[in-house]
Amino acid sequence: MPDTITITDDRTGKTVTVPIEGGVFSSSALRELDPTLYCYDPAYLSTASCKSAITYLDGDAGILRYRGYPIEQLAEKSTYLEVAYLLLNGELPTTEQLAQWTFDVTHHTFIHENMRKRFVDGFHYDAHPMGMFVSAIAALGTFYEGAKDVDDKEARDRQILRMIAKAPTIASMCYRFSVGLPFNQPNNELSYPANFLNMMWRIGEYEVDPILERAMDVLFILHADHEQNCGTTAMRVIGSSQADPYSSAAGAASALYGPLHGGANEQVVRMLAEIGSLENVPAFIESVKAGKGRLMGFGHRVYKNYDPRATIIKQTAYDVFAVTGKNPLLDIALALEEAALSDSYFIDRKLYPNVDFYSGLIYQAMGFPVDMFTVLFAIPRMTGWLAHWQELLDDPAQKISRPRQWYAGPDERDYIGITDR
Ligand code: ACO
Repeated sequence: MPDTITITDDRTGKTVTVPIEGGVFSSSALRELDPTLYCYDPAYLSTASCKSAITYLDGDAGILRYRGYPIEQLAEKSTYLEVAYLLLNGELPTTEQLAQWTFDVTHHTFIHENMRKRFVDGFHYDAHPMGMFVSAIAALGTFYEGAKDVDDKEARDRQILRMIAKAPTIASMCYRFSVGLPFNQPNNELSYPANFLNMMWRIGEYEVDPILERAMDVLFILHADHEQNCGTTAMRVIGSSQADPYSSAAGAASALYGPLHGGANEQVVRMLAEIGSLENVPAFIESVKAGKGRLMGFGHRVYKNYDPRATIIKQTAYDVFAVTGKNPLLDIALALEEAALSDSYFIDRKLYPNVDFYSGLIYQAMGFPVDMFTVLFAIPRMTGWLAHWQELLDDPAQKISRPRQWYAGPDERDYIGITDR
């Protein structure tokens, strides 16, 4: 069987045959057939917007790999900073490379005092930390002269380093402001996740629990990238206009903020709290099936099988609960999962728990308020956004993103004065 596809325009009889590579054929076939012919694909269900060598995902088989390495192995054996290096550079670092990268990230964690004093302090006292995070990332770019030099590899690398290093600092600052606590400066003696936990929680004496430090790192690894998701696509679309990476990442973070994307973990905990007790689970499942809302933390555009990240997170949850005590919502979550996975509504639609189903329970057990959940997702996703941004800028096939539309409005008509309408 040839690995080609042949498209015939029945209006003209013209035929074009193009190769299929890796399950993809180039839309140049359509342009060749008729340059005024477009493919209608809302929400990009059948569109590959780029060629990418960063993350591989097989949704039917429940496979996720970063640069070829299975997520299970990385979650078990690696650290977030090593994974960040891998995602950005394509290969795992040598001992020296990792030491240098860790040193560099650790020494770029501070932010300009004016970011806090003039920018963050300007928010209303009860501002949502994710809204603050989104704006703070964009504002951060105004502090760096080279931010706009997107064609200069050295300047680009400097911004990447800054953004990965400062994301936890900004995140913890947004939290501390929202609860009226003084901001904790970064501590360069600590690991990336321990430094974040220390900035979040230290009031007087505070020592980071090594199990929680590792759990945070694993959660960061699991959230670091997920190929062309909504936020990463936003990053690529904005970056394609050669906007600076801070503005692009602020756009990506805005996309992540939505409840159908990174905001889902927040909604999961709210949903579990609303269900309240085990006996309410069956009625809740019925209400979802009747179309009254969705089972948050279930379903995925790509995974039509158990999300491999959800499996790892479920294991991590038990490690965390051994330190913090069990989150009382866990039993409701387990009952909900069991009920859904044995119900034909969810089976037929291939709806399985996604990464957000259990992550919120861990975050809550660790003391994070629900409002911080999406911020916790955004910290490590910064790496994925930047890896894709870099790949986009180096890809000669890419241009400014500019889809076409299927116009469905009125034909030309004459303007009518307001008194005659
Ligand atoms: N609960 C109940 N029904 C659902 C759910 C759900 N969570 N998800 C999908 N469905 C149903 C839809 O109603 C639809 O049913 P229908 O065919 O009878 O109309 C069918 O399953 C297919 O759903 P779509 O919306 O077409 O699936 P899509 O791929 O567009 O959506 C999404 C994926 C947005 C993740 C969806 O499953 C959802 O809303 N899930 C809940 C929110 C969530 O957990 N988001 C986090 C995703 S992971 C992440 O972004 C990090």
